Amino acid sequence: MTTDRKTTTIQDVARIANVSTATVSRALSAPDKVSEGTRARVSEAIRATGYTLNQAGRSLRQRSAKTILVAIPDIRNPFFSLILDAIEREAASRGFGVLVLNLYFGHETIRRLQDFLLSNRADGLLLLDGSVDMHMLRELAEQAAEIPLVVACEEIPNSGFHTVLTDNVEAAERATQHLIDLGHRKIAHLVGPDHNVVARERLVGYLKALNRAGLPALPEWQLRGNFDMESGFAASARFLGVADRPSAVFAANDEAAIGFLSGLRNHGLICPRDVSVVGFDDLGVAAHYAPPLTTMRQPRETLGRMAAEALIDLVENPGVIAAPLRIVLRSELVVRESTSRAQIQVTAKAAEIVAS
Ligand code: RIB
Repeated sequence: MTTDRKTTTIQDVARIANVSTATVSRALSAPDKVSEGTRARVSEAIRATGYTLNQAGRSLRQRSAKTILVAIPDIRNPFFSLILDAIEREAASRGFGVLVLNLYFGHETIRRLQDFLLSNRADGLLLLDGSVDMHMLRELAEQAAEIPLVVACEEIPNSGFHTVLTDNVEAAERATQHLIDLGHRKIAHLVGPDHNVVARERLVGYLKALNRAGLPALPEWQLRGNFDMESGFAASARFLGVADRPSAVFAANDEAAIGFLSGLRNHGLICPRDVSVVGFDDLGVAAHYAPPLTTMRQPRETLGRMAAEALIDLVENPGVIAAPLRIVLRSELVVRESTSRAQIQVTAKAAEIVAS
């Protein structure tokens, strides 16, 4: 059996040999690591398809594109701008260019990454999206002849990939603790999207802080959001309807916090007099909003620089980082005017006593 040589891919070989593409890749790069039977099937499939090694990323990678691919979950999120800026600066200082892939639209994430990585358009991948399937990613990295990969911002839990991130759980704990220290006893959380790993981590941090302080954590105080202003705005309407309404809100990111503040204002509530709000990220707008937003500052420039540095080190010298790298950067609480001491709740009885 033969197929058109121009269109033959490693997937064709894998399908005919009835093995995974990673196994084909391994049979080519490290034949001693696969069984004799598998090796024979792969060889036969290669012969039958006319597949040549030149068609694989492995041989193409002998040439360097001097470019790294940065895949981000949503280019509309301004959070990524400073990170990209730092990545580009670091890359330029090392003689590398940067390609940006926005993973937001379309579902074929792995295929889109593959298009870049198997065609020698990029020498390494900097992935800022923790929702990419770990197994498919590992397979892709193997297909592309062990293409260097660094995950940043959003961890892929238990993957063992080189990772640079910030301390999401601890930072969320400290943001919530800030509200507790101001005397707030009922604190809501404007949660990020369910599928997002950092959103889940920040929820954990919020719950840990409440738990440690012995404060209630009612499920209706967890307001669903989507890391954007629209969802923050919409959450403010639901917040108004919550029985026993909290006096403070910790939002999973600044964009949602700002949408929430705008919604509060629309409903006639004043921040921080009626509700204190803490965000997360420290976007440029946070310091200039009215009121200026108290937030957890993520060290975005450092994160971008260190992630790019690690990736380019790996591209230039594949053995340079022996064990999986895991860098966790600390976020910093920036206190501004959107948080203040909790108002003392005056009960009807107490008011009566004061009046008499
Ligand atoms: O990872 C996505 C980022 O977008 C998060 O860190 C969060 O803060 C949001 O703005």
